[in-house]
Amino acid sequence: MADEPGLLLKLSDIHFSYPGGVPVLKGLDFELREGDRLGLTGLNGSGKTTFFHLIVGLLKPSRGHIEAFGRRLATEEDFVVARRRIGLLFQDADDQLFSPTVLEDVAFGPLNLGKTPAEARRIAMRTLKDLGLAGFEGRLIHRLSGGEKKLVSLATLLSMEPEVLLLDEPTNGLDETTRNNFLRILNGLKISYIIISHEYDFLEKSVRAVYAMTDGQICGDEKITLHRHFHAHPHGSLPHRHDP
Ligand SMILES: Nc1ncnc2c1ncn2[C@@H]1O[C@H](COP(=O)(O)OP(=O)(O)OP(=O)(O)O)[C@@H](O)[C@H]1O
Ligand SMILES: [Mg+2]
Repeated sequence: MADEPGLLLKLSDIHFSYPGGVPVLKGLDFELREGDRLGLTGLNGSGKTTFFHLIVGLLKPSRGHIEAFGRRLATEEDFVVARRRIGLLFQDADDQLFSPTVLEDVAFGPLNLGKTPAEARRIAMRTLKDLGLAGFEGRLIHRLSGGEKKLVSLATLLSMEPEVLLLDEPTNGLDETTRNNFLRILNGLKISYIIISHEYDFLEKSVRAVYAMTDGQICGDEKITLHRHFHAHPHGSLPHRHDP
């Protein structure tokens, strides 16, 4: 990969099994380039979350390698450096948030990146405002609703100005207004991202191509690119099928 321009992530021949489990990923290849906005679908248990956790080094492949921003990630230190540029939104917001208050959680990333407390606070307040969460800074994390936790989780990532976002079922449990808000935010970002979702309506509006996790590999077949489908014909209101 070394200096291939625009290539952000490259996974090659990734194999992974949980201890004592059957193989989950079996020779997975994947690339993410600047400007890519991809959806990832697949059956429950097909390995989508595992794929994200491998990218950020929470899990280690048994075979294959991962490159990010032109560098092969081998040591824990390599992954620590890459994680500053890759924001992972966990499937479960309770895995993401750990501070007592919203402000502390959203300011944590910038502080960790070396900002002063005053700067970190300013960044956190601005990010909360951008996400429609002005006034939430003093709220206690454990008293937030599920949807509010998702948005605050996104704020903790955006405050670090990542170059890649990995969003694991971001719209789960969001009402329509919050979902539209989320969509508006995503569409306003200049960040490459991958969204794991089972919601085709949401994907259609937030990504340019949809990949599928099947049999331990990611398939980027053009045939599964989403498109809106309008048609009318006699008896169209009755159940019918379209054979390929
Ligand atoms: N910590 C773990 N230990 C053992 N097996 C696990 C662990 N986490 C996940 N698995 C198994 O690995 C497989 C892949 O899980 P993963 O969470 O990646 O699937 P997924 O595609 O994200 O599913 P979902 O759509 O339900 O979120 C599943 O069979 C799951 O039971
Ligand atoms: Mg999952």
